[in-house]
Amino acid sequence: MSFAAVNDTYSFFRAWLLDPLRVAAVAPSGQALSQVITSEITMETGPVIELGPGTGAFTRALLARGVREDDLALIEYGSEFAVMLRRRYPKAHTLWMDARRLHSVELFGGRRAGAVISGLPVLSMKPRKVIAILEGAFGKMHPAGSFYQFTYGPACPIPRALLDRLGLKATRIGGTLANVPPASVYRIRQRQPRPSAQDRYSADLLAAPRSLEKTA
Ligand SMILES: C[S@@+](CC[C@H](N)C(=O)[O-])C[C@H]1O[C@@H](n2cnc3c(N)ncnc32)[C@H](O)[C@@H]1O
Repeated sequence: MSFAAVNDTYSFFRAWLLDPLRVAAVAPSGQALSQVITSEITMETGPVIELGPGTGAFTRALLARGVREDDLALIEYGSEFAVMLRRRYPKAHTLWMDARRLHSVELFGGRRAGAVISGLPVLSMKPRKVIAILEGAFGKMHPAGSFYQFTYGPACPIPRALLDRLGLKATRIGGTLANVPPASVYRIRQRQPRPSAQDRYSADLLAAPRSLEKTA
């Protein structure tokens, strides 16, 4: 194990001791899980939002898949991790904040993200908070964008009733036993991608000259 990896494991463990519910794991995710959760990401995905990056296990994998550093928004609630991420990824947009407030920030100059990668401990969150996070995340993505969530549990960590209420569907895309503990990854998408308010506005603008021609 490299010095950086030992350092990350130590920082992570110390953060877990101080706030076990927020950190929710004793060590950063391993390479195998990082590969699975980023497996559908390519350089064509465009901007990516990462929720709860911690020491950056998934961030490294996203960069290796061709995501540009300045096309990454890293949303982290732990100040110890946010400081570390800003130092390591100076071109990424690291925001020290609660992911439930995602709706309130502008990212990438208003460009829509192609995916959200979540390392958040959603199983220990109240439903209202999970709803705010999902609504914020889907509000920042293209209508066909995907939200990826990992879990150590035996099923999707977002309950079916909650997915139904938000018009979302979850599919297990893979898992790995080579993580401590073993983990699965779910892709969550809109059932019927609805155009966002921004997309509807752009469509109206495109249609405007034609309607002007008709009335002239
Ligand atoms: C299980 S760790 C995952 C860290 C990293 N993604 C990994 O897999 O190694 C959970 C991470 O989510 C962060 N976190 C927890 N609640 C959060 C919230 N409400 N908003 C943003 N980050 C949060 C924690 O500080 C921690 O970095």
